[in-house]
Amino acid sequence: MPATLKPSTKEYTLNTGAKIPAVGLGTWRSVDNNEGYKAVEFALKNGYRHIDDAKLYENEDQVGKAIRNSGIPRSELFVTTKLWNTDHKDVEGALDASLKRLGLDYVDLYLIHWPQNTDSKVDDPSKYEDYVETWKSLQKIYKEGEKVKAIGVANFTINKLEKLLNADGVDVVPAINQVETHPLLNHEKLIDYLKSKNICLTAYSPFGSDKAPVLENKVVKELAQKNGVDPGQLLVSWAVQRGTIVIPKSVNEKRILSNFETFTLPKEDFEALNELEGKEGTKRFNKTPFNIFDE
Ligand SMILES: NC(=O)c1ccc[n+]([C@@H]2O[C@H](COP(=O)([O-])OP(=O)(O)OC[C@H]3O[C@@H](n4cnc5c(N)ncnc54)[C@H](OP(=O)(O)O)[C@@H]3O)[C@@H](O)[C@H]2O)c1
Repeated sequence: MPATLKPSTKEYTLNTGAKIPAVGLGTWRSVDNNEGYKAVEFALKNGYRHIDDAKLYENEDQVGKAIRNSGIPRSELFVTTKLWNTDHKDVEGALDASLKRLGLDYVDLYLIHWPQNTDSKVDDPSKYEDYVETWKSLQKIYKEGEKVKAIGVANFTINKLEKLLNADGVDVVPAINQVETHPLLNHEKLIDYLKSKNICLTAYSPFGSDKAPVLENKVVKELAQKNGVDPGQLLVSWAVQRGTIVIPKSVNEKRILSNFETFTLPKEDFEALNELEGKEGTKRFNKTPFNIFDE
């Protein structure tokens, strides 16, 4: 019996009290030929209400225009953008520039994209571990209550979050930690830790990023076939079922639609995906020069 797929309606409540739709549209690499505009326009017409962007993606102008032209009340949308590494010393200036490119008065979530500042020397990590000061700048803007409705981090390990939460002057807990997550990098420990701190996890690169290598995994393919769904639907549904937010990227209309359709995995298939990393080994597809995960 094929599974019953339905457009995703699940939302989570952030530690700010705001709601965030469980499935959002990723927009990294959606830039050439106005792809950022077209993908967001199509996604919003077809039920998506959560869009993930970043200064780095160089498409905030396209994404913002599609949001503004959608006719959907701003209050019904959840828009994220991110502070790039070179902007840690001027958070407000970077945020203002992002808002200007987006053509929006505020974002629902502003994230520190990586826990370091690439102005500093990459071969000496102690020199770029300045995210605590960066966070304090985000906190200040958040408390002013106008330009950002929630603040969070991305690519933070448990150690880095501990350092942040225990630092003097830090009194806002990140609403979200956005990290690469899929069945070959399932972050079980990090998820438990985040739950204990009331921080949500957003799973980025849920298909393994460019060219979607995780969708080619043999077990993923078999389980998708068994349930009569495509591998993308299997992985988005698995991510939602385990209580994470997930932001698959696509610029293809058929895939934008299919990635938004979820179902409940049978217990044994859910467990099989939970166990995949243990059986096949860890795979991280987003390589970083920063060496921040070895701790
Ligand atoms: N915070 C961070 O540091 C960080 C890092 C990476 C990503 N992100 C965010 O997370 C989002 C998602 O991650 P990602 O873009 O790295 O990768 P992803 O969503 O894992 O995979 C995107 C790739 O999968 C393809 N694809 C999408 N749906 C598919 C389907 N149903 N079947 C087959 N192929 C499919 C896409 O091609 P088509 O477009 O042609 O469909 C694209 O090549 C990003 O766009 C970005 O918003 C954040």
